[in-house]
Amino acid sequence: MKDIVAIYPGSFDPVTNGHLDLIHRGSKLFDRLIVAIARNMDKGDPLFDMEERKDMLEAMTSELDNVTVDIFDGLLVSYCIQKNANAVLRGIRAVSDYEFELQMALMNRKMEPRVETVFMMPAEKYSYLSSRIVREVAKLGGPLSGLVPELVEERVRQKIAQRQVSAAGTHLK
Ligand code: PNS
Repeated sequence: MKDIVAIYPGSFDPVTNGHLDLIHRGSKLFDRLIVAIARNMDKGDPLFDMEERKDMLEAMTSELDNVTVDIFDGLLVSYCIQKNANAVLRGIRAVSDYEFELQMALMNRKMEPRVETVFMMPAEKYSYLSSRIVREVAKLGGPLSGLVPELVEERVRQKIAQRQVSAAGTHLK
């Protein structure tokens, strides 16, 4: 049997318990799993920079021997070939995810037929969870327990507090 190396790509701004659930499932299925943070996504106003996201992901996956964390630029399929990966892992939470995921998987397959996309479902208790929801709830002062690990919650709170201080400073000028 050949080794199956999978890439789990995403923005991870920040990593949520839903992502971690999928990483644990993926680490059992694949020989190696590379969690790959996409750089320079046109995604509005990011909360964390790439290194901060990587640092949190590494802290939360350190006990999984076959999981590594990396940052990539450009096309996902080119990164897969560069890493000798044969699979892309993506999570599907609800039917609403399916359309975009199908489009992405088929486009990736058209560009690089050697790479298969594998979909997995996170635990249903995370089916409503996303990084965007976490950022929004945190900015509005809502509770994050159960949505992200404690370390991530702390960093999100610190980041939002820092932003509020610098926004207040700008207003005073
Ligand atoms: O966490 P996200 O935002 O759902 O992840 C989306 C991601 C990073 C997987 C996707 O945008 C991606 O693969 N970006 C890399 C650039 C690329 O290959 N684009 C073509 C996709 S068909």
